[in-house]
Amino acid sequence: MTRVLVVDDEPGLRQSLGLLLADAGYDVAAEGNGTRALERALAESFDLVLCDVRMPETDGLAFLRAYKGRGGTALVIMMSAYGGEEAALAAMKEGAYDYVPKPFRPDEVVLTLRKAEERERLTHTIATLRAQLDSSPAARALIAESPAMRQALEVVARVAGHPTTVLITGERGTGKEVIAQAIHRASPRATGPFVAVNCAAIPDTLLESELFGYVKGAFTGAAADRPGLFEQADGGTLLLDEVGELPLALQAKLLRVLQENEIRRVGDQKTRRVDVRLLAATAKDLAAEAVAGRFRHDLFDRLNVVAIHLRPLSERRADIAPLAGHFAARLAGRLGRRVVLSEAALAWLGEQSWPGNVRSLEHAIERAAVLSDKEILEPADFRKEPLPAPRSLGGGRGAGSRERHAP
Ligand SMILES: Nc1ncnc2c1ncn2[C@@H]1O[C@H](COP(=O)(O)OP(=O)(O)OP(=O)(O)O)[C@@H](O)[C@H]1O
Ligand SMILES: [Mg+2]
Repeated sequence: MTRVLVVDDEPGLRQSLGLLLADAGYDVAAEGNGTRALERALAESFDLVLCDVRMPETDGLAFLRAYKGRGGTALVIMMSAYGGEEAALAAMKEGAYDYVPKPFRPDEVVLTLRKAEERERLTHTIATLRAQLDSSPAARALIAESPAMRQALEVVARVAGHPTTVLITGERGTGKEVIAQAIHRASPRATGPFVAVNCAAIPDTLLESELFGYVKGAFTGAAADRPGLFEQADGGTLLLDEVGELPLALQAKLLRVLQENEIRRVGDQKTRRVDVRLLAATAKDLAAEAVAGRFRHDLFDRLNVVAIHLRPLSERRADIAPLAGHFAARLAGRLGRRVVLSEAALAWLGEQSWPGNVRSLEHAIERAAVLSDKEILEPADFRKEPLPAPRSLGGGRGAGSRERHAP
């Protein structure tokens, strides 16, 4: 239910507005003075504030300034009596959403609120569409200017058409998932699903049922049959990310699946055929893991039919400027304003060591653009102290254990 706070020093008006808006289906609260209204508006969550311009003590404009200044997010609509239009217009300049002249007809107020809600909904829809556009092919463009990346793309082009397994290796943030998606999109399976699973993000005990699914009653809590990720990726591509984290027992099962193209749901008697192209990615040295006994040699050989190694960004500096430009352009679309890198900024970016590779370049540009609201970013904008990262996000592994991408 939409929550509205009515702020007016006239008790009669508070009461009639309260009844009127409650009748129209709003959840209404009211305050008779700007100071108390401010505390309440900030303490509780309102969607809309309907505020009189002229009040003793804190007037409407002061309320609005303080409310917006302290981060209030509700839409504020001003009410002004005859002669107060100027103040109402000044309020609009300061971020009020709309204003209604007083005295008003009941339907006028309700209509204004409804229009505000509708506009808000539209803004939200547009933001969602933008986000979807961001994942459109143009935004997913794969930048490859350096000889090393061009070579990697050549391999992508050559293997895409065959159902071979590909092992993609490289430090964190070098673009392993981007390469996996490129293989999928260039393959005859492009219209099928692309499913990525981060083996490191799922507890060992759940991995098998995540990958292969389970049948009802297979274990406590298995209330119904559920297909696993292999079945979800049927006809498409499955990326096993951080494949080096697979426990040995599951490695054996995975090998069998690859040999037989059949999976067995946990607790099931029968096997099911699946048609999945498997890609694997890891930041670990799997050969060394195999020597150390933590990864099966036979599975390693099976995954390593074709290998694509992504070099650290510092070893392919020719990619830095085009990547930076690509991220800036994408960000501009998202922020709805120009984001441009100065020559000096590009040169500075090109000299950094980028231990977090492409991902940290992407984050650096985002941070600089958001922190300085200038259109042209200079080296100084990148040298600012980064915001302290929330501790719970420190893991560096993708938040989602798996994602499903539209084909
Ligand atoms: N060549 C590229 N062109 C465009 N964007 C890229 C490129 N390489 C990486 N990116 C972007 O950088 C970020 C990191 O890429 P990606 O997730 O593919 O890396 P990763 O190697 O899988 O990292 P991790 O090991 O942390 O999982 C993503 O946002 C991706 O879109
Ligand atoms: Mg990854």
